[in-house]
Amino acid sequence: MLSVRSGLASVIRVGVVGLAGLCAQLQICAAPGSPLASDGPSALSRSIGKPESAQLALGESVFNTVWVPAGTPGAARRGLGPLFNAASCAACHVNGGQGNGPVVDGPAPIALVIQLETPSAHTGAEADGDPVYGHVYNTSAVQVIQPEGAVTVRYQEIEGRYYPDGIRWHMRVPRYRLTGLTRGRLAAQTVIKPRIAPALFGGGLLEAVPGSAIGGDAQTAAAADRYRTAPMRGRFGWQGESLSIREQVTKALSREMGLTTADRSDDDCTAAEADCLHEPSGNVPEVSGELLDAIVAYVRTLAVPTSPVRPERRAAGAELFASLGCADCHRPELPVELTDATGTKRAAVIAPYTDLRLHDLGIEMADENAAGERVPSRWRTAPLWGLGYRMRTESHPMFLHDGRARSPEEAILWHTGEAAEARRKFMDLWGRPRETLLRWLETL
Ligand code: HEC
Ligand code: HEC
Repeated sequence: MLSVRSGLASVIRVGVVGLAGLCAQLQICAAPGSPLASDGPSALSRSIGKPESAQLALGESVFNTVWVPAGTPGAARRGLGPLFNAASCAACHVNGGQGNGPVVDGPAPIALVIQLETPSAHTGAEADGDPVYGHVYNTSAVQVIQPEGAVTVRYQEIEGRYYPDGIRWHMRVPRYRLTGLTRGRLAAQTVIKPRIAPALFGGGLLEAVPGSAIGGDAQTAAAADRYRTAPMRGRFGWQGESLSIREQVTKALSREMGLTTADRSDDDCTAAEADCLHEPSGNVPEVSGELLDAIVAYVRTLAVPTSPVRPERRAAGAELFASLGCADCHRPELPVELTDATGTKRAAVIAPYTDLRLHDLGIEMADENAAGERVPSRWRTAPLWGLGYRMRTESHPMFLHDGRARSPEEAILWHTGEAAEARRKFMDLWGRPRETLLRWLETL
């Protein structure tokens, strides 16, 4: 077994196939005792040197830091805002996990971010935000200026019956309203993109998947043919819009927290937001290179939780998952190239249940623009690893890019477009096999 990187909070271990017991099938184990794994004493990997462990401890502390506005006397970590959504990473990614989504109708919680985007023909480049409101609709601000507005969500419950056995299913359909906009209207073509903060574990492993495994091999070629899948700009975010963890982190700092870094020297104030521009800001960068490197290193090490269920007890579910076509997109295995502390490269296999590609899941899932028109939207196949852990630990587990689904079952019912066939096969299952599949998802 090779210990890859390990944090104080968690350890990722990648086993080479055949590893006895625990993680043979999944091939990834989190240390017992980590906030992301089961209980038990905390186990720190030996391969981690002192400098690295100091950096990870610093990263964890920055992740949990509640930043304060520039000019706050006595505070070291300052520069928050002027516009922002939350004052810490941890406020949205609770314990490094998925943020809390809306449980009932009303104001949207902070972990549900409204991103704004001006559609553009340039693929590959970073998209522009709304001309006035910028990339993120900022629902908080430092005292002297006004936030951009508020968001509420209302759900409409719909229900139906599974065809063969008449058992009922339920879904909730979200409707978002941006209220109290303080800087006039959004541009009509601005796309309103509600996004829930996802769980962060395993990101370091997704970064280690070689590009050739996502684009080139026979399995992807066959699936690409069948599903018209598309490669993504990057690997992170619900639509694969960020190239790396570092890019995603600097975007969050700038757009959701109003903190500048050497990579991004401006925050989410646009030229049209004079009040925001005139606010005194902190030093540039407000987050030093040392702190940024530490948060990125910390996020990269967050371990994928292990499944307490033995692989052989899960075979029937895995077979159904493959036969319904779920595994075509949610690929059970991807290769990774890992570099250990000494710089030696090692090949291993991970079980993320994603192909790291984009898919069109149908018009009902598509975003709308400010004029109320649907815009074609493609989604990164969501990794399903740690799904069971999330269901055991989150008070209200939620799925899909805006947390609209309250269970994996509801998430599957939203799959249309390229996944319409898989959804139809799922709905045609009798009660027993349907339960087998759903129980299996909880063991991931
Ligand atoms: C206001 C809420 C909010 C805050 C604060 C926030 N995030 Fe996020 N985070 C999100 C949302 C929403 C997404 C999904 C973005 C997307 O799909 O484009 C996300 C995505 C991510 C991802 C990509 C995960 C993946 O697998 O795609 C990483 C990594 C991440 N955030 C790290 C951080 C770090 C580190 C911080 C603190 C510097 C932070 N975030 C602060 C809401 C937040
Ligand atoms: C055509 C590709 C495709 C197929 C086939 C497919 N999925 Fe998905 N799945 C996706 C994408 C893309 C998402 C992310 C949607 C989003 O971002 O809202 C997703 C999301 C999910 C989620 C929610 C995960 C989360 O963290 O929010 C679950 C659960 C899921 N799929 C299960 C299944 C099952 C079970 C099947 C087979 C019945 C299946 N999927 C078939 C592409 C696919």
